[in-house]
Amino acid sequence: MTATIEVVRGDITEQAVDAIVNAANSSLMGGGGVDGAIHAAAGPQLLTECQALRRDRLPNGLPVGKAVTTGAGQLPTRFVIHTVGPKHWEYPDGGVEHLVSAHRNCLAEADRVGATSVAFPAISCGVYGWQAADAAPVAVTAVRESLGRFPNISLVRFVLFNDDAYETFRSEVAANPS
Ligand code: APR
Repeated sequence: MTATIEVVRGDITEQAVDAIVNAANSSLMGGGGVDGAIHAAAGPQLLTECQALRRDRLPNGLPVGKAVTTGAGQLPTRFVIHTVGPKHWEYPDGGVEHLVSAHRNCLAEADRVGATSVAFPAISCGVYGWQAADAAPVAVTAVRESLGRFPNISLVRFVLFNDDAYETFRSEVAANPS
């Protein structure tokens, strides 16, 4: 079965899918943007789980492009998959390969925990400086190419918080319907 890739304008904390992706930082200790919104809506349990991950598995933090899963506290989803996108200014090409890896590793985590529907925010498109117009083709292509390896994942939803990013991601998905 071919997975559906859809694009919606909205708040990722309200998505009733199996897993939502958090555009976190390496510390996993929360922050602003979508990370702050996810921690605020999930409640303190999420930070407690992130602290345990840091203590037990990731003493040096989560590297850029990698992904790790926790529960979701009070969110209407089962899992939060935390990833770290590239900071655009740190790489000559913005860190394309890391942005690809972030999407790919999130889907691998979703598959590992048995999530069949996953929502992504626009990773790196806020504080980390990517323009949505540059990120959308990278993100959508990375997801399309990875889905072939994870046949149990039936839905990927990009959730965009503003009109500009929404239109950009919507056009990218519409340009190459699956
Ligand atoms: N739902 C969906 N998207 C959201 C939400 C939300 N509730 N809140 C913000 N966004 C959007 C932003 O508009 C932006 O397009 O998420 C996108 C990613 O922006 P950031 O959250 O700034 O993420 P990123 O650019 O990857 O930077 C990560 O920001 O807050 C910190 O701890 C985080 O240090 C890390 C850095």
